[in-house]
Amino acid sequence: MRIYMTEDYQSMSRRTANIISAQVITKPDSVLGLATGSTPTGAYQQLAEWYRKGDLSFAEIRTLNLYEYYGLSPRHEQSCRCAMQRNLFDHIDIRPENTYVPDGLARDPRAECAAYDATIRALGGIDLQLLGIGVNGHIGLNEPGDDFGLESHLVQLSESTLQRNSRFFECREDMPRQALTMGIKSIMHTHRILIAASGAEKADILCRAFCGPVSREVPASILQLHPEVTLVGDRAALSGLREAGLPICG
Ligand code: F6R
Repeated sequence: MRIYMTEDYQSMSRRTANIISAQVITKPDSVLGLATGSTPTGAYQQLAEWYRKGDLSFAEIRTLNLYEYYGLSPRHEQSCRCAMQRNLFDHIDIRPENTYVPDGLARDPRAECAAYDATIRALGGIDLQLLGIGVNGHIGLNEPGDDFGLESHLVQLSESTLQRNSRFFECREDMPRQALTMGIKSIMHTHRILIAASGAEKADILCRAFCGPVSREVPASILQLHPEVTLVGDRAALSGLREAGLPICG
């Protein structure tokens, strides 16, 4: 695993965007796995800026998002679909038909998940998967205790995720309690993983994920077994890993 430390959120975002843009430039028809949440929004802004300047094109890029809340319409402003449009897709030249997010209104969640996995396979797998990390160690929305052997599936959100992500909804009751998420097995099959983290609140979980045992209680710990992981974090997020003595690049 390579770990890059940056000074703050802004430089973490630029470094994350740099790695994504290198992937886009070297393989213009890459399949990118994308994340939502607050961490990647700065990187998306940076990518959109490079697109505006003419330095980057997404015309042949395909994207697959990690999850969608189950029960939310793609038009709901807190849906992952809407967040991706707002933060990235509406600002770049990606073709709408090349952007995939699970359908939160699917009548049959199992069939929707099977179709999503079939899409991942039909696209030839994911070249670069961007991840954030939950304070409880979730990646995608694979919560502590979830089965590592699953591909896309319907998941019950943990109390910790419900509490934390309800900040994005008008009231907590509006927040769905389930999501359709790519599974750990799907994430582990991606060719390269780029995990981004910012802020002191991520320091402890990053330590547990990368210095502790691989355990279902900390889903991100499985990434220790992936051969191509890059972690980009700011000084505050990486403070624990630094103390633990993990080799960190500047
Ligand atoms: C994946 C996703 C989550 C977040 C995680 C951290 O698409 O959205 O796994 O990466 O919950 O969220 P933030 O970035 O808001 O701290």
